[in-house]
Amino acid sequence: MSESVSFDRAADFYDATRALPDEVAAQLTEALLAELARIDADRVLEVGVGTGRISRPLMERGIRVHGVDISAAMMRTLRRQLGGGHIAPDLMLGDATRLPLASASVPAVLMVHILHLVSSMPDAVAEVARVVKPGGVLLHEVTRDRSFHVLSSHRESPWQASADIWAEALAPHDYVRRRRPETEDIHAALEAQGATLRVEQYATYEERTTPQEHLDSTRDRIFSWSWEYPDDLFAEVFAEFEPKYRVHYGDMDRELTDTHVHELEIWTLS
Ligand SMILES: C[S@@+](CC[C@H](N)C(=O)[O-])C[C@H]1O[C@@H](n2cnc3c(N)ncnc32)[C@H](O)[C@@H]1O
Repeated sequence: MSESVSFDRAADFYDATRALPDEVAAQLTEALLAELARIDADRVLEVGVGTGRISRPLMERGIRVHGVDISAAMMRTLRRQLGGGHIAPDLMLGDATRLPLASASVPAVLMVHILHLVSSMPDAVAEVARVVKPGGVLLHEVTRDRSFHVLSSHRESPWQASADIWAEALAPHDYVRRRRPETEDIHAALEAQGATLRVEQYATYEERTTPQEHLDSTRDRIFSWSWEYPDDLFAEVFAEFEPKYRVHYGDMDRELTDTHVHELEIWTLS
């Protein structure tokens, strides 16, 4: 089984590289507050709280956040950004697959970009089901890439293009990559816990980037998909990836657009 992916190495650049556009962040905050209000909850447990990118705005709106993360460095970055307007969070160093909380102790759990990083997704889902009170919810934010899911002849996802070229460069190296759970796997694990789903699409966003920006973020290993490789293997594969990538795009400063569909999955636990 793979280890969980700690974000210690990203603590100093996470917020600068993962910021949601202001309007999307505001819409997410409102969607989360509406779901908490629906079950009369004034607190939430965020599993994989990180720097509080998602939870800090909730703390400013009167919500008590309990945060768990395996990265002390990420939670230090969270603490540094707290001010007088935030309800003080209760932060715990801990693992999503063995949550440091009593059974049936929280009305709501929040998860954003975490289930693909844990050592066992089914165990993390079972822990959510254990700690949520009956009738409580898991609020699971999912960003879908519309151009990836609805491919048309004149559009392509920049992320998918670079992933395909990376896979081609990696192929001769006989390296088995970490497996990420598919949406269907996550849904099946939650359904096995008796959870039922409602989905709210709370925002769409057109991201504009360039091939050069994608190439730079790959070289700088900004995103967690690139951290699993030993440094020497990464350097070798990148050396093969870069020329293929440049040939694919030609003009490295051309504009790439990618439509992100932001959804909130609301899973009710019985
Ligand atoms: C992509 S970041 C997301 C942080 C935050 N949810 C957000 O959306 O900004 C993933 C976080 O999950 C944490 N993490 C990874 N595996 C974990 C585990 N098994 N238990 C708790 N936290 C974990 C990482 O350390 C990191 O802070």
